[in-house]
Amino acid sequence: MASSTVYLNGEFLPLDKACVPVLDRGFIFGDGVYEVIPVYAGKAFRLQHHLQRLKNSMQAVRITNPHTDEEWNAIINEVVTRNNDGDQSIYLQITRGVARRDHRFPGDATPTVFVMSNLFDPVPKQQLENGVNAITLDDIRWQYCSIKSIALLPNILLRQQAVEQGAAEAILLRNGEVTEGAASNVFIVKDGIIITPPKTDCLLPGITRDLVVEQAHEHGLAVKEANIKQTELETADEIWLTSSTKEILPVTKLNGQAVGSSKPGTVWQKMYALYQAYKQTLRQSA
Ligand code: PDD
Repeated sequence: MASSTVYLNGEFLPLDKACVPVLDRGFIFGDGVYEVIPVYAGKAFRLQHHLQRLKNSMQAVRITNPHTDEEWNAIINEVVTRNNDGDQSIYLQITRGVARRDHRFPGDATPTVFVMSNLFDPVPKQQLENGVNAITLDDIRWQYCSIKSIALLPNILLRQQAVEQGAAEAILLRNGEVTEGAASNVFIVKDGIIITPPKTDCLLPGITRDLVVEQAHEHGLAVKEANIKQTELETADEIWLTSSTKEILPVTKLNGQAVGSSKPGTVWQKMYALYQAYKQTLRQSA
């Protein structure tokens, strides 16, 4: 595979030449934040929303923002252009920087900034036609899930458990209520109403989630933000997962039981079409 061009601390260089010191606090402590930004036809999708969430995450963990919005735009666009202008997904990570290992914040470290481009793997057609399996698991993560922290060990353990049980995602429950997926937000449809949990510290405020809510309002689909009990999840007519890389994915089996008709539902079909149409406006923009 040809090496892609990445950005690391002020330099554009081949991926295999990009190195960070082992004392980087990202490596030692998982002390950093990240973003994943889809890019369609060379254009970053909802870039300002992703940059705003990045700034919120940095502020929440008290990493000083090393760049202005103009600089972030320029870095991201340069990585996109240097990687062929097609569909891609940008991964952007900022850590607190390199310092002697000490739990307290270093006084003088400069944040490490890394940006790379990955191929955007379209969701397989078969998954859109049949939906995917999901299982429910206890949300064992920390209390600040609204921060897009790179410390993803609990998320990784939960996703792996799902995969080992033949499911594409783990839907997480805290005190009997749905929070989100291991790497996605969760929606249900009940009696024609689209429902997703409200934004709290228990879940990541997904850019895709917000767009789905926005599009539903704009196109007159009934939508509400409300807590979802485990029993409501189990008796939902439809379940969807949303993320920048999976877009809107229908779940047709939960814990081995059929969801609704066990086929992607009619409301999902409408919302998926609206999402694709919205994407198309970006692809066709100048
Ligand atoms: N993750 N919740 C969690 C825990 C996530 O990791 C993600 C996405 C989402 C959806 O957010 P968005 O719609 O902004 O992508 C919700 C990215 C894709 C990842 O870690 O690869």
